[in-house]
Amino acid sequence: MKVKKIDPFNIVVFGGDGDLAVRKIYPALFHRFVDKQLDLDFTIICITRTPNSKIQIIENIHSFILASIDYSLNKALLNKFLKKIVVQEVLSPTIEGYKGLKEQLESTKNRQSIFYLSTPSSAFGEICNLLTLNNLVNEKSKVVLEKPLGVSLKTSKEIHAKISLAFTENQIYRIDHYLGKETVQNLMVLRFANHLFEHSWSSEDIDSVQITVAESLGVEKRGDYYDKSGALLDMVQNHLLQLLCLIAMEPPTKLEASFVRTEKLKVLNSLQMFDEKTVETDTVKGQYTRGKVKDELVNSYLEDIDNYESKTETFVAIKALIDNWRWKGTPFYLRTGKRMAKRYSEIIINFKSVRHNVFPSQGEIPGNKLIIRLQPEERIELVQMTKLPGPGGYRYRPISLKLDYVDSFKERFPEAYERLIIDVLRGEQTLFMHQDELEAAWIWIESIVNGWKKAKTRNVLYEAGSWGPGDQILEKEHKWSKAYNDGNQEI
Ligand code: BG6
Repeated sequence: MKVKKIDPFNIVVFGGDGDLAVRKIYPALFHRFVDKQLDLDFTIICITRTPNSKIQIIENIHSFILASIDYSLNKALLNKFLKKIVVQEVLSPTIEGYKGLKEQLESTKNRQSIFYLSTPSSAFGEICNLLTLNNLVNEKSKVVLEKPLGVSLKTSKEIHAKISLAFTENQIYRIDHYLGKETVQNLMVLRFANHLFEHSWSSEDIDSVQITVAESLGVEKRGDYYDKSGALLDMVQNHLLQLLCLIAMEPPTKLEASFVRTEKLKVLNSLQMFDEKTVETDTVKGQYTRGKVKDELVNSYLEDIDNYESKTETFVAIKALIDNWRWKGTPFYLRTGKRMAKRYSEIIINFKSVRHNVFPSQGEIPGNKLIIRLQPEERIELVQMTKLPGPGGYRYRPISLKLDYVDSFKERFPEAYERLIIDVLRGEQTLFMHQDELEAAWIWIESIVNGWKKAKTRNVLYEAGSWGPGDQILEKEHKWSKAYNDGNQEI
C-alpha cells in the first residue's frame, strides 16, 4: 500500500487513559506508524488525571496494541512507538494544571497540535477554555470531538458555543467512527462510481431500505454512560443516521467536505418528524432481559447496570420516512440493539419486483436485493432470481452474487480510527460532521424523544440473544431480512 507521509505533529489525548483511547486511538496511531505513514517527528501526549499512573498507563496501552495486531509484530518498532508517548498529569482544571502540557507543546512549537477530546462532552468547554488561556491554540491547531456531543439539541448547542470560542468550524473534527469503516466508504464508490445502480436509486425502483446494527455485547463497563443515553442517542443519533444519509443523499458535485456535508444535511432536513401518534406506530424501543447469547447465559440490562428502575432502551427500531422527491414512499427501517443474537451490521436495499410476471405459475417474484454487509465480514451481495437447472419448465430461486472484500483485496483493512486520524492530520473534513448536520440530527431525534414522553411509550422487553422487538413497525408486506445465518443463507 502506498502511503503519503504526514507532517510533524503533536496529538494531545484528553481522557488519554480512558477505554476509547487505549482500545482505538493508540492502536490506530501504531498501525499507521508500522505502515510508515508517520515518521519519528511526532509526540503523543496522553493526559491523565490520576497521579503516578504513568507506568501502568503505558503497560495498558502496550497490551491493547498487542491485542489489536493481526500481523507479525516487530517488537523494536513497538518499543520505538511507545517511546513517543508522554503521559502528562493534569491534576486540576486550572491554568496552573496545564503548565506541564504547555511546556511540552512549547518545546515543539512548529508542529501542528491536535487536541483529541475523548472525555465526556460536558468537559469540552472547560478544556477548550484552558487551552486558550494557556495560548495553546493557533491557526494550525485542530480539535477532535468524540460523541455524544450533548444529550439534546440545547446542550449540543451550548457545547458548540464554548468550543467555538477557541476553534473555528474548519478546525473542528466531530468523529463518527462508522464513517471511517472501509465498507461504509465503499458505499460512496458503489453509488457514485457505478452507472448500474444510480438509475434505479429512488422510490421508483426501491421498495424499502433496512439498516441493522446489531450487537451481541451488553453494556460492558459503560453502564453509567449508557444508562443516560440509551440506544437512540448512542447509536441512531450518529451512526445509523450517517449510514442513512450516505444511502439517501444526492450525488455531491465533488467529493469534498462542503459538497458532501451539504447533501447529507439536505437528507437530515427532509426526515419526517415524529409526534406522539407516529412514535406508537413507527418506532419501538426495548430492553433486554436475561437470556442466552452464543450459548452463554447472560444477565438482564437491569442486572448489568445494577439499577432495577432504569427505563433506558437498549434496542430501538424506527421506520423513517424521507420527504423529498427521490425517496417519497420508501421506508427506511433502522434497527439497533445490545445483546442481540449476533454482531452484524448491514444495509439492505430491497428493490421492487418486476412490473409484469411472465412466470405466474411460480407465484410472486421477489424483488432483487443489494446487501451491503459492514461487519463482521465486509461483503456486497446482489441477490437475483436464477433458474434452477433441469428440464420441464421454469423454476427459480434467489441466488446471491458475492463480492467478498477480504478475498478480493489481500491487504490488511485499516481500522476506522486509522483513516479518521490521518484525515484529521491532513485537514480533510469530508468524513466528519458539520455542526449543522449535528443540529439537524438532534431535531429529528428530539421529535422521537418528545413523542415517547407524550405517548408514555414503554420498553418492550426482549430476551438477550433474540433479534429484539423490531417487527411491529414493519408494514405488512415487509419483514426484517435474516440474511446473516451462519452461512446458511435465508435471503
Ligand atoms: C459506539 C457506541 O459509538 O459504537 C457503542 O457508543 C457501540 O455502544 C459501538 O458498541 C459500536 O461500534 P462497532 O464499530 O463495534 O460497530
